[in-house]
Amino acid sequence: MAGKKPCDLIVKNAGQLLTLKAATDGPRRGPLMSDLGLISGGSVAVRDGEIVAADRADVVERAVEVATGTLVIDARGKVVMPGFVDPHTHVVYCGSRVDEFEARLLGKTYKEIAQEGGGINATVNRVRRAERDELVDESLPRLERMLEWGTTTLEAKSGYGLTTDDEIKMLLAIRDLDGMQPIQLVPTFMGAHQIPPEYARERGKYIDLVVDEMIPEVVERELAGFCDVFCEPGFFSTDEAERILRAGIEAGLAPKLHADEFSSSGGAQLAAKIGAVSADHLAAPSGDGLIALSKTDCVAVLLPGTSFLLGEHKYAPAKGMIELGIPVALGTDCNPGSSPIEAMTLSIGLGCVLLGLTPAQAVCAATINAAHAVGLGGSVGSLEVGKQADMLILDVADYRLLAYHFATNHVQTVIKRGGIAHHKHS
Ligand code: NIG
Ligand code: FE
Repeated sequence: MAGKKPCDLIVKNAGQLLTLKAATDGPRRGPLMSDLGLISGGSVAVRDGEIVAADRADVVERAVEVATGTLVIDARGKVVMPGFVDPHTHVVYCGSRVDEFEARLLGKTYKEIAQEGGGINATVNRVRRAERDELVDESLPRLERMLEWGTTTLEAKSGYGLTTDDEIKMLLAIRDLDGMQPIQLVPTFMGAHQIPPEYARERGKYIDLVVDEMIPEVVERELAGFCDVFCEPGFFSTDEAERILRAGIEAGLAPKLHADEFSSSGGAQLAAKIGAVSADHLAAPSGDGLIALSKTDCVAVLLPGTSFLLGEHKYAPAKGMIELGIPVALGTDCNPGSSPIEAMTLSIGLGCVLLGLTPAQAVCAATINAAHAVGLGGSVGSLEVGKQADMLILDVADYRLLAYHFATNHVQTVIKRGGIAHHKHS
């Protein structure tokens, strides 16, 4: 019909359509974090992987043309929302660290285990021995499970190689995985995850290697868009982190930071000063650090699963951050040491129970704010005309069940770039 837009997919009559649309192009702050752009009885129409309409069902019906080839999905009584964006993972690795989990239960801390040669180093040993294919084969099933739990975009860090060749191997494995399954992967270079043991007595030389050799090669081969550093006493100081991140910025890598995870050590201030896209963890930030962050566009990526599993009872002050106007995102931190968590819904549930977020704030944190934390706020994270059609159909009528009934998978259908990427057979 004249004037109507053609579409190849329409998801219609959702009991709750969460568009996450807001009057800003930036990450959501303060009260906007509670506004999910909820439409009761809403539809989304898609053409060539892009959203052409997302509105009340009658409005969409008038705007689009449903032809014989159009796939029509009835979402009556269900929730339709953007796919989850997981903005912080170390999902590419080999082996398990279940022995460390048990050691922590018997009283050791994460830092003590690291100081004794375990921790990140244990995974580095495994990853260095692995071929690129083994890394891919071990990580692929994790990504498949993440998709089933609704993740459609995720950030993936290197950082278990810690030699130029092994860091490149990890980033190449991330690139392979990006093309092998529906989740879109955003690669981050994290050669500064830890000083490897062979450089323990000459840490400056390892930092030189990161700055002079690794960063240029990563950029030259276009293997990552972000550079991240584990800024924490015992790992990298703020001065070291600043040197590495500035070298990354000069070469074209946007800065991210593991900041103030265990102790208040100036990580949040550094993130603000350097213009980081995100400051992550923040379980122990200082008041000054938070005020500095609140004056910037940096997204606070909170990882409550890590705090929970480490058992140190230190949680990011999410409510205070939101009051200060800091945009908050949630991630899994999926990694073999501190957080073998794959489901974003667990981060949502723990974000509510442990950090005090409301279900609406947690959903905002796991979608549009997480998209901004990985530089994709313009293309994913909300259901708006022109954006990529990444969406979930949940087999529940109220989105708050994501947080309340969080250990159950409510994701019925995952749509990535307009295609059905997963469908749960019940
Ligand atoms: O985000 N904090 C540093 N890195 C990871 C842990 C990685 C590991 O233990 O293997 C984290 O928690
Ligand atoms: Fe991490």
